[in-house]
Amino acid sequence: MKIIGSYPKTRLRRLRKHKWLRNLISENNISPNDLILPIFVREGKNKIESIKTMPEVKRYSVDKLPTILKKVKDLKIPMVALFPYTPNNKKNKQGSEALNPNNLICRSLRLIKSKFPDIGVMCDVALDPYTSHGHDGVLINNEIDNDETIKILVKQAILQAKCGCDVIAPSDMMDGRIGLIRKALDKEKFTDVSILSYAVKYASSFYGPFREAVGSKSKLKKDKKTYQMDFRNSFEAYREVGLDIKEGADMIIVKPGMIYLDIIRNIKKNFNVPIIAYQVSGEYSLIKDGIKKKLFKEDIIFESLIAFKRAGACAIISYFAIEVAKKLKKIN
Ligand code: PBG
Repeated sequence: MKIIGSYPKTRLRRLRKHKWLRNLISENNISPNDLILPIFVREGKNKIESIKTMPEVKRYSVDKLPTILKKVKDLKIPMVALFPYTPNNKKNKQGSEALNPNNLICRSLRLIKSKFPDIGVMCDVALDPYTSHGHDGVLINNEIDNDETIKILVKQAILQAKCGCDVIAPSDMMDGRIGLIRKALDKEKFTDVSILSYAVKYASSFYGPFREAVGSKSKLKKDKKTYQMDFRNSFEAYREVGLDIKEGADMIIVKPGMIYLDIIRNIKKNFNVPIIAYQVSGEYSLIKDGIKKKLFKEDIIFESLIAFKRAGACAIISYFAIEVAKKLKKIN
């Protein structure tokens, strides 16, 4: 890029003088259309409970989901992402609760699709909320078995599609699962159900607060480094994206968010696929804590979200979605 101009004829501050002028020339903006809200669901009736690790985020019993979905609808947030808090007595080595047509996710899907048909719903495909060991796949001889796991994931995806899931989001990082899930969806005539692949998911400490939220934290013995990506690598991310697009992914996720903006940027440059950033639980909780302690102004939330847009993401999964959409409504 050629840099043109010089002082004093050129003064870049001239364009920063007025708020209206700054608004006029802003290159990136955030609207409710850019947001996806994660929601945690739990068993029981009439329950809305706090989560220790994530200030202001709640778990909802299925009957209470409408309280949050009404807000999503009013604020015109296009999509929600569902995550289950599975009771311990329903967890086992195989994660078989994932295939129960009456599990938390299936019940939530049916409720949302009957009462809020215009809200998009994405669901994780992975076994970690359901396994007694907290891993995303099945353990065979103490290893996460790729191909045995995929067999279950394919069934999980089909079940979610049957219950009305719009966007299937495999977050397990097994090799080859996108192709097999696409094939199975098509065979079952779910050609319009899309796949949002967590193509680039690093083995990250930033997921800590989430694991508490879905109840897998105390279960997980070892880390997830044999399937989630090594944070020292970036070229590997492009191989993951390339393979997933070839296998049929419609969109891809980069996760965590803020400290992986280089990855988003390079995917944007090299592939023409919609990129969704996941501002994960650790990022959320750190920012929230900083605001609480008055280290940051609330504007830090916008700053963090715009960064994803600037890097090249078209949307952001964020626990701030409701808060931000409310603020946007006031401003506009
Ligand atoms: C499960 C899953 C995780 C997250 C989303 N889906 C955690 C993990 O892989 O351990 C993390 C989300 C967050 O931290 O907000 N496969």
